[in-house]
Amino acid sequence: MRCNFKVFRFDPSKDKEPYYRNYTVEAQPGDRILDCLNTIRWEQDPSLAFRWSCAHGVCGSDALKINGASALACQKLVKNYTTTDFLIEPIPVFPLLKDLIVDMEPFFKIYHSIKPYLISQEPPPETERIQKPEERKMIEDTIKCISCACCTSSCPVNLGENTDYIGPAALVKAHRYIFDSRDTTMIDRCVSLNSYDGAWGCKTYFYCTDVCPKSIKVTSAITRVKQEIVKLKRAKQL
Ligand code: SF4
Ligand code: F3S
Ligand code: FES
Repeated sequence: MRCNFKVFRFDPSKDKEPYYRNYTVEAQPGDRILDCLNTIRWEQDPSLAFRWSCAHGVCGSDALKINGASALACQKLVKNYTTTDFLIEPIPVFPLLKDLIVDMEPFFKIYHSIKPYLISQEPPPETERIQKPEERKMIEDTIKCISCACCTSSCPVNLGENTDYIGPAALVKAHRYIFDSRDTTMIDRCVSLNSYDGAWGCKTYFYCTDVCPKSIKVTSAITRVKQEIVKLKRAKQL
Protein backbone atom coordinates (compact mmCIF):
# COMPACT_ATOMS: atom_id res chain seq x y z
CA MET A 1 0.00 0.00 0.00
CA ARG A 2 1.09 3.55 -0.70
CA CYS A 3 1.77 5.55 2.47
CA ASN A 4 2.37 9.27 2.60
CA PHE A 5 4.78 10.57 5.21
CA LYS A 6 4.96 14.23 6.17
CA VAL A 7 8.14 14.48 8.23
CA PHE A 8 9.38 17.33 10.43
CA ARG A 9 12.80 18.55 9.34
CA PHE A 10 15.27 20.95 10.88
CA ASP A 11 19.04 21.00 10.53
CA PRO A 12 20.40 23.79 12.78
CA SER A 13 23.60 23.92 10.67
CA LYS A 14 21.70 25.15 7.62
CA ASP A 15 17.99 25.76 8.25
CA LYS A 16 16.63 29.03 9.63
CA GLU A 17 13.21 27.52 10.36
CA PRO A 18 11.82 23.99 10.65
CA TYR A 19 9.79 22.68 7.72
CA TYR A 20 7.98 19.48 6.68
CA ARG A 21 9.07 17.24 3.82
CA ASN A 22 6.81 14.74 2.06
CA TYR A 23 7.84 11.18 1.17
CA THR A 24 5.94 8.25 -0.31
CA VAL A 25 6.67 4.70 0.81
CA GLU A 26 5.30 1.39 -0.52
CA ALA A 27 4.58 -0.52 2.69
CA GLN A 28 2.86 -3.70 3.88
CA PRO A 29 0.17 -3.43 6.61
CA GLY A 30 2.49 -5.28 9.00
CA ASP A 31 5.43 -2.94 8.43
CA ARG A 32 6.49 -0.84 11.39
CA ILE A 33 6.63 2.94 11.17
CA LEU A 34 10.34 2.48 11.88
CA ASP A 35 10.64 0.28 8.75
CA CYS A 36 9.05 3.08 6.72
CA LEU A 37 11.42 5.69 8.14
CA ASN A 38 14.37 3.41 7.38
CA THR A 39 13.09 2.97 3.81
CA ILE A 40 13.03 6.76 3.50
CA ARG A 41 16.54 7.11 4.91
CA TRP A 42 18.09 4.18 3.04
CA GLU A 43 16.38 4.65 -0.33
CA GLN A 44 15.28 8.26 -0.63
CA ASP A 45 16.92 10.72 1.75
CA PRO A 46 20.01 9.77 3.79
CA SER A 47 19.97 13.18 5.46
CA LEU A 48 16.89 12.33 7.61
CA ALA A 49 17.98 12.01 11.26
CA PHE A 50 16.18 9.88 13.85
CA ARG A 51 17.19 7.54 16.68
CA TRP A 52 16.61 3.83 17.02
CA SER A 53 18.52 0.86 18.31
CA CYS A 54 16.76 -2.39 19.29
CA ALA A 55 13.75 -2.17 16.92
CA HIS A 56 11.82 -4.35 19.38
CA GLY A 57 10.33 -2.02 22.00
CA VAL A 58 13.16 -2.54 24.48
CA CYS A 59 15.64 0.35 24.32
CA GLY A 60 13.11 3.20 24.28
CA SER A 61 15.18 5.33 21.90
CA ASP A 62 12.72 5.82 19.02
CA ALA A 63 9.90 7.73 20.71
CA LEU A 64 8.31 10.02 18.13
CA LYS A 65 5.07 11.89 17.67
CA ILE A 66 3.15 9.80 15.14
CA ASN A 67 -0.07 11.43 13.94
CA GLY A 68 -0.07 13.61 17.04
CA ALA A 69 0.59 11.00 19.73
CA SER A 70 3.88 9.94 21.30
CA ALA A 71 4.74 6.33 20.44
CA LEU A 72 7.65 4.03 19.65
CA ALA A 73 8.22 3.91 15.88
CA CYS A 74 9.30 0.25 16.17
CA GLN A 75 6.10 -0.77 17.95
CA LYS A 76 3.51 0.93 15.77
CA LEU A 77 2.52 -0.86 12.58
CA VAL A 78 1.07 0.78 9.48
CA LYS A 79 -2.15 -1.23 10.05
CA ASN A 80 -2.54 0.23 13.57
CA TYR A 81 -3.72 3.45 11.91
CA THR A 82 -6.97 4.09 10.07
CA THR A 83 -5.14 6.22 7.52
CA THR A 84 -2.18 5.87 5.17
CA ASP A 85 -1.16 9.49 5.81
CA PHE A 86 1.42 9.84 8.56
CA LEU A 87 2.63 12.99 10.28
CA ILE A 88 5.98 12.30 11.94
CA GLU A 89 7.40 14.81 14.42
CA PRO A 90 9.92 14.86 17.28
CA ILE A 91 8.49 14.40 20.77
CA PRO A 92 7.81 17.75 22.44
CA VAL A 93 8.98 18.97 25.87
CA PHE A 94 12.67 18.34 25.10
CA PRO A 95 15.03 20.64 23.15
CA LEU A 96 15.26 19.85 19.45
CA LEU A 97 18.67 18.81 18.12
CA LYS A 98 18.04 17.78 14.51
CA ASP A 99 15.02 16.53 12.52
CA LEU A 100 13.38 13.91 14.77
CA ILE A 101 16.12 13.86 17.41
CA VAL A 102 15.65 15.68 20.70
CA ASP A 103 18.10 16.27 23.53
CA MET A 104 17.35 13.68 26.23
CA GLU A 105 19.85 15.14 28.71
CA PRO A 106 17.16 17.03 30.71
CA PHE A 107 15.11 13.82 30.88
CA PHE A 108 17.99 11.72 32.22
CA LYS A 109 19.08 14.49 34.61
CA ILE A 110 15.68 14.22 36.31
CA TYR A 111 15.82 10.43 36.03
CA HIS A 112 19.11 10.36 37.96
CA SER A 113 17.77 12.83 40.55
CA ILE A 114 15.27 10.24 41.84
CA LYS A 115 18.16 7.81 42.51
CA PRO A 116 17.04 5.02 40.19
CA TYR A 117 18.87 2.25 42.00
CA LEU A 118 18.36 0.06 45.05
CA ILE A 119 19.50 1.64 48.33
CA SER A 120 19.59 -0.51 51.44
CA GLN A 121 21.00 0.05 54.89
CA GLU A 122 20.84 -3.69 55.45
CA PRO A 123 24.25 -5.36 55.33
CA PRO A 124 24.88 -7.13 52.04
CA PRO A 125 23.78 -10.77 52.22
CA GLU A 126 26.09 -13.59 51.21
CA THR A 127 24.05 -14.29 48.13
CA GLU A 128 21.31 -12.18 46.54
CA ARG A 129 18.75 -9.98 48.35
CA ILE A 130 15.66 -12.16 48.52
CA GLN A 131 12.27 -10.87 47.44
CA LYS A 132 9.08 -12.89 47.84
CA PRO A 133 6.74 -13.23 44.83
CA GLU A 134 4.02 -11.19 46.59
CA GLU A 135 6.55 -8.41 47.27
CA ARG A 136 7.65 -8.49 43.63
CA LYS A 137 4.00 -8.02 42.62
CA MET A 138 4.04 -4.51 44.14
CA ILE A 139 6.48 -3.33 41.48
CA GLU A 140 5.54 -5.73 38.68
CA ASP A 141 4.01 -3.00 36.53
CA THR A 142 6.46 -0.13 36.97
CA ILE A 143 9.52 -2.36 36.60
CA LYS A 144 8.58 -2.67 32.90
CA CYS A 145 9.44 1.00 32.25
CA ILE A 146 11.99 1.47 29.44
CA SER A 147 12.46 5.24 30.00
CA CYS A 148 11.24 6.14 26.53
CA ALA A 149 9.69 9.48 27.61
CA CYS A 150 6.45 8.92 25.66
CA CYS A 151 4.54 9.68 28.88
CA THR A 152 6.43 12.80 29.90
CA SER A 153 6.22 14.21 26.37
CA SER A 154 2.42 13.76 26.43
CA CYS A 155 1.68 15.24 29.85
CA PRO A 156 0.02 18.70 29.66
CA VAL A 157 1.80 19.69 32.89
CA ASN A 158 5.22 19.01 31.32
CA LEU A 159 4.02 20.59 28.09
CA GLY A 160 3.51 23.98 29.71
CA GLU A 161 1.45 24.11 32.90
CA ASN A 162 4.54 23.55 35.08
CA THR A 163 7.73 22.87 33.18
CA ASP A 164 9.54 22.14 36.48
CA TYR A 165 7.30 19.10 37.11
CA ILE A 166 9.52 16.02 37.16
CA GLY A 167 7.02 14.17 35.02
CA PRO A 168 5.42 10.74 34.91
CA ALA A 169 8.50 8.80 33.75
CA ALA A 170 10.49 9.85 36.84
CA LEU A 171 7.53 9.11 39.10
CA VAL A 172 7.11 5.63 37.61
CA LYS A 173 10.79 4.96 38.30
CA ALA A 174 10.40 6.38 41.83
CA HIS A 175 7.42 4.07 42.40
CA ARG A 176 9.52 1.12 41.34
CA TYR A 177 12.02 1.80 44.19
CA ILE A 178 9.62 3.19 46.82
CA PHE A 179 7.68 -0.09 46.78
CA ASP A 180 10.66 -2.40 46.34
CA SER A 181 10.73 -4.50 49.53
CA ARG A 182 14.56 -4.53 49.46
CA ASP A 183 14.94 -0.73 49.41
CA THR A 184 15.09 0.95 52.82
CA THR A 185 14.75 4.60 51.74
CA MET A 186 11.01 4.87 51.15
CA ILE A 187 10.66 7.87 53.51
CA ASP A 188 13.57 9.80 51.94
CA ARG A 189 12.22 9.08 48.49
CA CYS A 190 8.74 10.29 49.49
CA VAL A 191 10.17 13.45 51.13
CA SER A 192 11.89 14.39 47.88
CA LEU A 193 8.66 13.91 45.89
CA ASN A 194 6.40 15.83 48.31
CA SER A 195 6.11 19.04 46.26
CA TYR A 196 4.24 20.56 43.34
CA ASP A 197 7.24 19.87 41.11
CA GLY A 198 7.14 16.28 42.36
CA ALA A 199 4.21 13.90 42.83
CA TRP A 200 1.70 16.71 43.47
CA GLY A 201 2.43 18.17 40.05
CA CYS A 202 0.36 15.38 38.53
CA LYS A 203 -3.16 16.56 37.77
CA THR A 204 -4.40 13.08 36.84
CA TYR A 205 -4.79 13.85 33.14
CA PHE A 206 -4.15 10.20 32.15
CA TYR A 207 -2.41 11.03 28.83
CA CYS A 208 0.69 9.26 30.16
CA THR A 209 -1.23 6.03 30.70
CA ASP A 210 -2.83 6.25 27.25
CA VAL A 211 0.49 6.44 25.40
CA CYS A 212 2.76 4.15 27.46
CA PRO A 213 4.12 1.54 25.03
CA LYS A 214 4.58 -0.95 27.87
CA SER A 215 0.94 -0.54 29.02
CA ILE A 216 2.07 0.60 32.47
CA LYS A 217 -0.73 2.06 34.59
CA VAL A 218 1.23 5.27 34.97
CA THR A 219 -1.47 7.43 36.57
CA SER A 220 -2.29 4.78 39.10
CA ALA A 221 1.42 4.36 40.00
CA ILE A 222 1.65 8.13 40.59
CA THR A 223 -1.54 8.02 42.68
CA ARG A 224 -0.03 5.20 44.75
CA VAL A 225 3.03 7.40 45.42
CA LYS A 226 0.75 10.29 46.47
CA GLN A 227 -1.16 7.93 48.79
CA GLU A 228 2.07 6.78 50.40
CA ILE A 229 3.12 10.41 51.00
CA VAL A 230 -0.24 11.12 52.68
CA LYS A 231 0.07 7.95 54.75
CA LEU A 232 3.53 8.96 55.97
CA LYS A 233 2.31 12.50 56.74
CA ARG A 234 -0.57 11.14 58.82
CA ALA A 235 1.88 8.93 60.69
CA LYS A 236 3.99 12.09 61.19
CA GLN A 237 6.91 10.42 59.44
CA LEU A 238 7.03 13.17 56.83
FE1 SF4 B 1 7.94 5.06 28.55
FE2 SF4 B 1 5.84 4.03 29.86
FE3 SF4 B 1 8.20 4.31 31.10
FE4 SF4 B 1 6.74 6.45 30.50
S1 SF4 B 1 6.19 4.85 31.92
S2 SF4 B 1 8.95 6.24 30.18
S3 SF4 B 1 5.82 5.85 28.56
S4 SF4 B 1 7.76 2.98 29.35
FE1 F3S C 1 0.39 14.15 33.46
FE2 F3S C 1 -0.19 11.63 33.55
FE3 F3S C 1 -0.44 13.07 35.71
S1 F3S C 1 -0.63 13.01 31.89
S2 F3S C 1 -0.96 15.07 34.92
S3 F3S C 1 1.43 12.64 34.66
S4 F3S C 1 -1.79 11.49 35.03
FE1 FES D 1 14.34 0.32 20.72
FE2 FES D 1 12.15 1.13 19.43
S1 FES D 1 14.18 1.01 18.66
S2 FES D 1 12.37 0.68 21.52
